[in-house]
Amino acid sequence: MARVFSGIQPSGELHIGNYLGAVQRWVALQSQYQCFICIVDYHAITQDYDVSMLETRTLDMATSLLAAGIDPERTVLFVQSHVLEHTELAWVFTSVTPIGELERMTQFKDKSQRQESVLAGLLSYPVLQAADVLLYKADTVPVGEDQVQHVELMREIARKWNARYGDGFFPEPQALVGEAKRIVGLDGQAKMSKSLGNTIGLLDQPEVIWQRLRPAMTDPARVTRNDPGTPEICNIYHLHQHFSPKKTVEEVAHKCRTAGWGCLDCKRVLADNIANAFKPIRQRAAELKKRPEQVREILAAGAAKAREVAQETMRGVRERMGLLPARTEAVVDR
Ligand code: TYM
Repeated sequence: MARVFSGIQPSGELHIGNYLGAVQRWVALQSQYQCFICIVDYHAITQDYDVSMLETRTLDMATSLLAAGIDPERTVLFVQSHVLEHTELAWVFTSVTPIGELERMTQFKDKSQRQESVLAGLLSYPVLQAADVLLYKADTVPVGEDQVQHVELMREIARKWNARYGDGFFPEPQALVGEAKRIVGLDGQAKMSKSLGNTIGLLDQPEVIWQRLRPAMTDPARVTRNDPGTPEICNIYHLHQHFSPKKTVEEVAHKCRTAGWGCLDCKRVLADNIANAFKPIRQRAAELKKRPEQVREILAAGAAKAREVAQETMRGVRERMGLLPARTEAVVDR
């Protein structure tokens, strides 16, 4: 059975961007594939973060994922730092990864530009990402567009390691990118992202969704209500395509072109459809939030399953690299 791996940062609750771009597909894939989904807390520390909130954000992300339909009976859901082999394999991979490859990563260039002093962790971020996937010898990596370059690099890392230490040991994983590969935020410009504050949260109440959507950017040509617009350039129209029935989408396009609706009318319909789409997820999340211990247990069980595979891979890696075997395997009780 093909093996799927994907990861998500512990940024708290899900938003429409990471849900449509990734999580929705993870939920669909779990019936056909053996899936590993990892909350990547060691990736999150490569940029400034609130130490006092990391634990809560990690749990909230797990809660969101479970509410969104990740089924712990079918998917191995776990936290990256609970499986020590991730950082171990990342170290191994630093010794086959040229710095030049890391420096040309778009995400590194973007993020490092915003910082006075660039941390080594930010540069080696994709090496840890390669370790995440290859530790499970996963061949399929469902991600949004922004992660495709990182998946290409992990293919190269697998190739380089295989060439030096063990032909065919690691597969070369493929990115799986869906239609919703880049959901634009409410500013109508940048990728929807929590750090840019341009999101609608999956668990937002209907009134909050409306408050967030109301000031959102639309086609700038629609200065007054009577100015006709071009739906294709409006992010609100694109969001309708994900949340509204086909008939409504056609109506939106027509009423935008003919100024039959104002932008607020169009947003009102969208707000209602988003709120309805996520109602069952909101309800499940509210239930799970009453039982945080259960979420912790799911994560512990997931880490135990992940560890079995990870330890097996690392044994093979150490052996092929000629390391002296330890007499006793380190016993890690977490
Ligand atoms: P992260 O946490 O930024 O995002 C999680 C997933 O959601 C996708 N995504 C989006 N897709 C479309 N439109 C958007 N606005 C949007 N925002 C987020 C991302 O492409 C991603 O698939 N480095 C990764 C996490 C990671 C990982 C891995 C992924 C760590 N190890 C191994 C795959 C395999 C990240 O920061 O994702």
